[in-house]
Amino acid sequence: MTEDLPPIPASTLPVAARAPGKCIVFGEHAVVHGAPELLFALDLETQVFVRPSETTRLNGDPHAGDTNPYFARALASLWPDGSPIDVRAVSRIPRAAGLGSSAAFAAALTAALGSATGGIDRPTLARRSFAVERGAQGVGSPGDTTAVVGGGFLALNGGPGTPLWTVEDGARTWEVRRVTDPGWNWVVAHSGIPRSTATAVRAVGERLSLPDGPALLARFREVAESGTRAVERADRADVARLLVENQELLRDVGVSHPRIEELLRAAAPAAEGAKLTGAGAGGSIVALPKDGKETELVRRLARAGGLPFVVRPSPDGARLLDPVSPG
Ligand code: PMV
Repeated sequence: MTEDLPPIPASTLPVAARAPGKCIVFGEHAVVHGAPELLFALDLETQVFVRPSETTRLNGDPHAGDTNPYFARALASLWPDGSPIDVRAVSRIPRAAGLGSSAAFAAALTAALGSATGGIDRPTLARRSFAVERGAQGVGSPGDTTAVVGGGFLALNGGPGTPLWTVEDGARTWEVRRVTDPGWNWVVAHSGIPRSTATAVRAVGERLSLPDGPALLARFREVAESGTRAVERADRADVARLLVENQELLRDVGVSHPRIEELLRAAAPAAEGAKLTGAGAGGSIVALPKDGKETELVRRLARAGGLPFVVRPSPDGARLLDPVSPG
């Protein structure tokens, strides 16, 4: 399958852009080591508004260019003339929850600055957004920034057809392919436990360097490959079974958390399958509701202390917003 995703057109300041969050269905952590991942863009979004100013600020903070690593990276690499800008970011994506708030901020800001510096095509937007996120985090894959730039369902290092684009980091190349959205509702729930992606990624890297690491990575690969094929043929029962298998592997590499396990237990009677999503060690779960049981699933997760949302994939990736508001 080939697809022409629209570029980010050139414009002048003020400019505004939006980017969705993301939900990883299969393959987090293993993707950092080159295995496949399947994820979708969420219908929760971050909006970024950029206008000329007398001093550079982020949400009113004149020190953010030094203290916020995402903002600092974006300014250093994407705003070459350094003219002062006022940036406002508004988000409905819970932070540090594994739902892509940092990728959405990186991509929306990259899209806005890319537009104000002559416009960019989508593979370039994906690569630059990844460079901002990687520069800020120090570790990780381009999965999150890919999803929020591409929209819909996407596979890294797997899936059908020819790649939409590739992203490289000097050591590894990730291929990105479109996967058909089966059209289901999903439920995500934040445990309320914030965590650091970089810390979790490093811990899993150490775990996978033990003698049984290659065998574990091979099992992650198999689950993500089978899971991607099951989503492509809209086979709910198989997807649900593989969600549970993927959670077992994530537990084995040490990134589950007692609160995550509680949410998974609370979800079980109303979910066909569920797992943690994102870096884990806290963060969020994703669940595939039993037919007609979205509301019951949300109620169960809220009663167990989670912050649940019914979500659908957002077909749109990052794009400009028109007209530009909050000023
Ligand atoms: O930062 P999170 O929670 O959205 O997780 C990112 C997914 C990882 O595979 C753990 C890291 C990565 O960069 O792919």
